[in-house]
Amino acid sequence: MPPTFGAPAPSGPRWELEVRPGLAPFARDELAAHPGVTPLPPEAAGETDDAHAAAVPFTCDGPPPDLATLRTATSLQRVVPFDVPRPKALLGDAAHRTLAAELRAVRMRDVFHGLRVEAAGADTPVVQRLRAAWGEAVGLPDAPEDGDLRVRLRRAPPAVGRGWEVLIRTTPRPASVRPWRVVDRPGGLDACVAAAAWRWVGTPADQRVVNLMCGGGTLLAERAALGPAAALVGVDLDADALEAAAANLGAAGLAVDGDLGPAPDRAPARARATVRLRLADATATDLPDAAFDVLVADPPWGDAVGAADDLPDLYAGLLREGARLVRPGGTAVVVTHALRAFEAALAAAGDGWRADGTLRVFQGGHRPALHRLRRAGDGGTPPRRREGDLLDSAS
Ligand SMILES: C[S@@+](CC[C@H](N)C(=O)[O-])C[C@H]1O[C@@H](n2cnc3c(N)ncnc32)[C@H](O)[C@@H]1O
Repeated sequence: MPPTFGAPAPSGPRWELEVRPGLAPFARDELAAHPGVTPLPPEAAGETDDAHAAAVPFTCDGPPPDLATLRTATSLQRVVPFDVPRPKALLGDAAHRTLAAELRAVRMRDVFHGLRVEAAGADTPVVQRLRAAWGEAVGLPDAPEDGDLRVRLRRAPPAVGRGWEVLIRTTPRPASVRPWRVVDRPGGLDACVAAAAWRWVGTPADQRVVNLMCGGGTLLAERAALGPAAALVGVDLDADALEAAAANLGAAGLAVDGDLGPAPDRAPARARATVRLRLADATATDLPDAAFDVLVADPPWGDAVGAADDLPDLYAGLLREGARLVRPGGTAVVVTHALRAFEAALAAAGDGWRADGTLRVFQGGHRPALHRLRRAGDGGTPPRRREGDLLDSAS
């Protein structure tokens, strides 16, 4: 039976995480760690016509989780439901006062410059009046193209009742725009995708990590954000990429050393960890055998960075060198865009790696895949080196 006006809605203030398609299970998992959070079924977020976004709805007693702790989510939105038959009713006094209070509460928590209302029929007279009324309530100009206080108007999903809902994004920028990314490079991996890769692999504190083809350092920065590691090593053959990684990792609060030019201000006063960056061909490093528990790699996708024709050989070299660097029983995650070429390289790699799952995600106009691989071997307790030993032999 379809719900009617006044049908019981989920109790408690409603919120919605916006995530990249493919990442919802990781965001739900992160949410579960927060007290007071009750997940709602996906239908409570309704259909989206945005192929690059999915939603994770929930209610929360008390303040919502801090978005900075939800590393796989792109944004957090406050969902304000109105039991009204059409948007025009939101101009009424009671609805307007409710929404103005919600908008002001969000506005108070950060710096915003303009109001962007997204709605079907955004230029109809009713929505224009709503834009003007809401802009006045928060003292922000109407900025339909680039406003950073983003407000969405949508029909309530049938699963939660009838009427209309207003969704207020709680931050001026998506959370995937990390504060640590001070140098942007073409082909940089989305930070939420990188965080999901780490949640997929696990992040024990004694983990020794090598990131081949590390580029601007996204995978290393997101690993370090999730807790301590026994070793963090990045490799790239482009000196500019390593300098970008050094800047980003420094901004993330990490000390960086390795094959870098002089930069006296690189080390933060109280670094959380040290990352060693190596200028080398990732298919032929001089890093020691079996020195790592986990390899992560985001090779060129063959458009913004690299050439598609080079990818088969690059994948083959990466898998060969990775099998040497990762201890038996260890793990690799490789992000690829040329799926068939990667699968062929993996088949040709023989027994060194065993496929252990694929995760398909969205990034911009692309649909890359994350391949999780297990290194053949018994996976018994590996001979452990102290971080100093590893770094000494890696330098
Ligand atoms: C897609 S980008 C990596 C982006 C990175 N994940 C980030 O978010 O910044 C690919 C990187 O692979 C590097 N690369 C390509 N071929 C390589 C090779 N044979 N050895 C080492 N690095 C390589 C490029 O210099 C580039 O920085």
